[in-house]
Amino acid sequence: MKIYHILILLLIFACKEKPKAQTPIDKTKIETKQAVIVDSAMVVSARVEASKIGSEILKSGGNAFDAMIATEMALAVCYPYAGNLGGGGFMVFRSQYGEIGSLDYREKAPIAATKNMYLDKDGNVIPNKSSVGAMAVGIPGTIAGMFAVHEKYGSLPMEVILKPVIELAKKGYIITEKQARRLEEFKSQFEEVNGGKILYSENYKVGDTLKNAALANTLEQIAKNGRSEFYGGETGKKLVSFIKKKGGIITIKDLEAYEAQWREPIVFNYKDLKVISMAPPSSGGICLAQILKMVEPFPLKKYGHNSKRYIQVLAEAERRAYADRSFYLGDPDFVDIPKDSLLSEAYLSQRMENFSLEAATPSSSIKPGVIVGYESPQTTHYSIVDSFGNAVSVTTTLNSEYGSKLYVNDLGFFLNNEMDDFSAKPGEPNVYGLVGGKANAIAPQKRMLSSMTPTIVEKDGKLFMVVGTPGGSTIITSVAQIILNVYEFDMNMQESVDAPRFHHQWLPDAIRYEYEKFPSQIIDDLEILGYPENKDSDPIIGKVDAILILPNGKLEGGADSRGDDTAVGF
Ligand code: DON
Repeated sequence: MKIYHILILLLIFACKEKPKAQTPIDKTKIETKQAVIVDSAMVVSARVEASKIGSEILKSGGNAFDAMIATEMALAVCYPYAGNLGGGGFMVFRSQYGEIGSLDYREKAPIAATKNMYLDKDGNVIPNKSSVGAMAVGIPGTIAGMFAVHEKYGSLPMEVILKPVIELAKKGYIITEKQARRLEEFKSQFEEVNGGKILYSENYKVGDTLKNAALANTLEQIAKNGRSEFYGGETGKKLVSFIKKKGGIITIKDLEAYEAQWREPIVFNYKDLKVISMAPPSSGGICLAQILKMVEPFPLKKYGHNSKRYIQVLAEAERRAYADRSFYLGDPDFVDIPKDSLLSEAYLSQRMENFSLEAATPSSSIKPGVIVGYESPQTTHYSIVDSFGNAVSVTTTLNSEYGSKLYVNDLGFFLNNEMDDFSAKPGEPNVYGLVGGKANAIAPQKRMLSSMTPTIVEKDGKLFMVVGTPGGSTIITSVAQIILNVYEFDMNMQESVDAPRFHHQWLPDAIRYEYEKFPSQIIDDLEILGYPENKDSDPIIGKVDAILILPNGKLEGGADSRGDDTAVGF
């Protein structure tokens, strides 16, 4: 070979794309903890105390519904970040006989609410008005939800269910490191919003005990006097006069008019799985169905978990689902939702027709789909399976961290800022960057659109998985990934929960990653294909608590390592 041949070869080699940096091993490996596996019953929640109390109720002969009430109320005591009496939520169940259903105990807009209540005289959104303080509060639904569940499916007396919870509030619980950090972070905002010190703005260190006597008393009154204690009785009256003093518009009439609603869940198939999830006013079930149906024809397993192609296909389906969400979804008691069309196979396959693996479909070119005939970031999730085979999947929230930050001293709980989940103005993003329009505009007594996605999955006609997560707009895409992790990528429940997640929501037109865990090469490659990275500073997406029923009938917990989440069972 002549010298110039060698030079040409060297030149060609030098002009070629630079070799890609090797992905550091520790980033691709899923860091996970030992899975908890039990024989017959389990509760997985954000706090060990709540999981234990729920599990004890199951052990003493209570069913999953009794355990739900105990777990939810225990979270209100020891996880005030999201657990609540002053918020709302959704529950999806599957009974031991295969009966399915769901309960909506979502907050509602006050009777005095108006469409433009968060806009100034020039029509601009007033910063923080829908998210901080008394004007942000929706009518709480949690206590109505607990009594609705108890009345229909409970088996133990309410006093028995609430007893360990009241004890927990009186004796206190130990502050964890994550909790101490969060309380410290919000201390000054608590004092600013409440006009002085509150129980949760004391200086707490890891290992301190936090007792809440006021909350213990409120729960005692509710256990004694029932649902009406909250929706019109002494507790309700105190609550209303507190909100009024702080400048809010909720009245006793609002509390009296509140009802939780049993709703038909959204049910669809993904391959041989049957998925049961929450219907509107949560967008969770419909969007989850749209995403999974849109990705169903693609060879995801072949692409590989969190591979470039997998992320592309899922992000494109997510983008389309969130565009539809923004236009069509709202409270079904107020707007007609073209549910069947949105979920039809023909519509969903046509929705993905303009997608190619060669380049991203810009969000600007994706509009809510055309449907013929149609006119017009804190939460917590827990999953329960009892030894009879009943399963309960519940997501409950105050909306943001500690809700509106407004704390009812006398009653011992925080109030939600769920009003921010409405679309205050068409096209104006809320705290999760979600946009909406007419379908989710504010109206008196209307429920604000949610993304909460408590879900139950069946396989071969049997209970297979109970799953859900907090995370605002990222809830739906996290639940989709958990189901795919187990079904397509053969992960166990704990690995599936701990695996790194990503998210696309149409607008902004960018993918959000748990960037500390994703190889930068993948993020860069996708950027070149037209998928910019959403550089949201939060490196965590969701906190999933799930249960998988193993082929031998045992239960495997998936308690998210991102939080203090714990699986307890027997
Ligand atoms: O209902 C919703 O979609 C929101 N209020 C949920 C908020 C949430 O998940 C915050 N957690 N990180």
